[in-house]
Amino acid sequence: DANIAIPSGTYSSLDELAASCQQCHRCELAKGRTHVVVSRGNPQAKIAIVGEAPGQQEDETGLPFVGKSGQLLDKILASVELDPERDVYICNVNKCRPPGNRTPTTPEIEACKPYLLEQLRLVNPKIILLTGATAVKGTLGEKRGITKIRGQWFDWQGFLCMPIFHPAYLLRNPSRKEGSPKWLMWQDIQAVRNKLT
Ligand code: URA
Repeated sequence: DANIAIPSGTYSSLDELAASCQQCHRCELAKGRTHVVVSRGNPQAKIAIVGEAPGQQEDETGLPFVGKSGQLLDKILASVELDPERDVYICNVNKCRPPGNRTPTTPEIEACKPYLLEQLRLVNPKIILLTGATAVKGTLGEKRGITKIRGQWFDWQGFLCMPIFHPAYLLRNPSRKEGSPKWLMWQDIQAVRNKLT
């Protein structure tokens, strides 16, 4: 029940949080899921990446960003020598797949938000990358669109955050020419890399 609060500090470990997510029925998305998708990567990483919600492959495997978008995300990370298993922790705003991959609704985002907050509090990354509009909506409370705010640094809950394009958007816009979404992503991921060193 989404009306039952999950205060900050409820979980003392990511395992405890994941176990709670497996039992969750705080929103309607619980009905259609095969797996609850909590995370992949390294909980000790300096970078956390927040996506939208599981798609079909993610729902089937129980792991975030393992389909086409995830494969592109891994390539983007590798292009600046970031290892997807070692250097990042990957999760989503919503832990269950929306029917037909529709965008999660505001109540669904709000129902799942305590898990995201607890997850990020326990991981305590140096940098959080917010991929696409839903990740921004689930965190910053920023009204400007992703095209306006991508590549900028924000403070959210004491975390250093950068909105970036969602990899699915890059798959629909394959051009690499100057000023294109892919070109802008390359600028952004290099800025992230430079912030680490
Ligand atoms: N898109 C997302 O936002 N998250 C996933 O886990 C997969 C695709």
